[in-house]
Amino acid sequence: MAEDEEIRSLSRTNDQFNSHENGGRKRCVRCCGLCTVTVLIVAAVFVTLLFTLFLRDPEIKTNKLTIVKMKLISGTTLPDPKYNISLVADVSMKNPNAATFIYGNSTTVLYYRGTLIAAIPIPPGRAKPRRTQRMDLPFELDTAKLYGTLNVQSDASSGVLDMTSKTRIIGKMKIFGVTKKHIVVKMDCELSFNLTSLAIQDQKCKSKSSI
Ligand SMILES: *[C@@H]1O[C@H](CO)[C@@H](O)[C@H](O)[C@H]1NC(C)=O
Ligand SMILES: *[C@@H]1O[C@H](CO)[C@@H](O)[C@H](O)[C@H]1NC(C)=O
Ligand SMILES: *[C@@H]1O[C@H](CO)[C@@H](O)[C@H](O)[C@H]1NC(C)=O
Repeated sequence: MAEDEEIRSLSRTNDQFNSHENGGRKRCVRCCGLCTVTVLIVAAVFVTLLFTLFLRDPEIKTNKLTIVKMKLISGTTLPDPKYNISLVADVSMKNPNAATFIYGNSTTVLYYRGTLIAAIPIPPGRAKPRRTQRMDLPFELDTAKLYGTLNVQSDASSGVLDMTSKTRIIGKMKIFGVTKKHIVVKMDCELSFNLTSLAIQDQKCKSKSSI
């Protein structure tokens, strides 16, 4: 009998303990929620800091333009405006980061005195960590547009064409197990195309990226 009492009282204590624990659990749940939010905020700040500290802008640059096919006006050395000029652009993509930069397809557009004269399609790819990869990209130069632009003849006689190029690439990178999506790399360049050597000279680039 005494044993029974003891068991009952024990179970009551247990119940009390349980109910006390339940109340504690509610408080605990609220507390844990707060903790989780705090941890998430701290993690977000940490990841943002990591990305700003450790992510450097990938660079994309056009090194050389090679003419593959060009029809000349017969008896001259001038390109025939009825035919586009086929070229290959030697483009390099430099990834200074410790992670692979995975990017989608994009385009480098070339402007001559504000007129869009060519679009160089860049296929999607992966830029390996701390590497510079080079690509040979075929494209066409719109001869009619080039001729339609003022100054082309006087510029051509000087031996160089001053152009600007714009590239916008969207990609992602994984650092410390966290994938940063939608990294936008914008690269604007001013370049001179030497008509004698067909080389790009005095290239100045500015990159603006949003990480
Ligand atoms: C990427 O490729 C798609 C399909 O070929 C095309 O529609 C789109 O314009 C391309 N994007 C860029 C930025 O070139
Ligand atoms: C030259 O290229 C432009 C732009 O790609 C295109 O619209 C035009 O039809 C082309 N002209 C010829 C003659 O192929
Ligand atoms: C174009 O390239 C040729 C050959 O490399 C060079 O002699 C010439 O000075 C260059 N022209 C200009 C305007 O820089």
